[in-house]
Amino acid sequence: MWFRTRPYALSTRHVKFPDNVAAMSILYRFMYRIGFTPWDRVLPAELGEIVGALIPGRALDLGSGQGAKSVFLARHGWQVTAVENVPRAMAEARRRASDAGVAIDFRAGDVTRLSELNLSPGYSLVFDFGCYHGLNRKQRDAYGEGVNALAAPGATLLLMGFTRAVPPVPSGVSEADLLSHLGSSWKVSWTHPAALGGTAAMNRATAAWFCLVRS
Ligand SMILES: C[S@@+](CC[C@H](N)C(=O)[O-])C[C@H]1O[C@@H](n2cnc3c(N)ncnc32)[C@H](O)[C@@H]1O
Repeated sequence: MWFRTRPYALSTRHVKFPDNVAAMSILYRFMYRIGFTPWDRVLPAELGEIVGALIPGRALDLGSGQGAKSVFLARHGWQVTAVENVPRAMAEARRRASDAGVAIDFRAGDVTRLSELNLSPGYSLVFDFGCYHGLNRKQRDAYGEGVNALAAPGATLLLMGFTRAVPPVPSGVSEADLLSHLGSSWKVSWTHPAALGGTAAMNRATAAWFCLVRS
């Protein structure tokens, strides 16, 4: 069996995942199927602070999962596009948006192929909680290209990612890594460690917040 785990312990210590989007998607499908979604419980203070600091506009939630953060943004006046490639997660996100009475533009798609979604440019906020860090270098380049085609001048990118490579995270996220994939139009505004209690794998990976602004 390619995936070794004890129920709800999800040890990835002995697992090396193939580095492609389909393999990650299988892993996430499995996690959503068994209901092991620790990220879903987190509504981070950093998101609340950004919402308090920015004038609501168009927000792009990349790897939006079951939609908790998209719904939060929409409730605070943002016009949200949510991109996710696990149908079960998106179905739950749609249900939550409906329960909350907010309209969200849900797009079933791949964050490394954003150009296929026919989105209009002009997003003033790009948000990513835990998606980017699952991409390999080539995929991060494609993600950067897609984000650059959609983010408005002056846009904010708020991203939480694991800073160490712990399977299935192929390599840690850092300021240098982000800038190398996003390019020189972005500047790091601030970064700080993220408080993530969770699984042993999550704790080994450590995590940080990165806030970048586009010139
Ligand atoms: C750690 S979860 C976080 C979900 C959501 N951001 C949240 O905080 O509730 C990462 C999400 O990214 C999605 N994802 C990973 N790779 C993706 C890709 N290439 N395209 C679209 N979604 C992807 C996963 O299916 C998963 O829902």
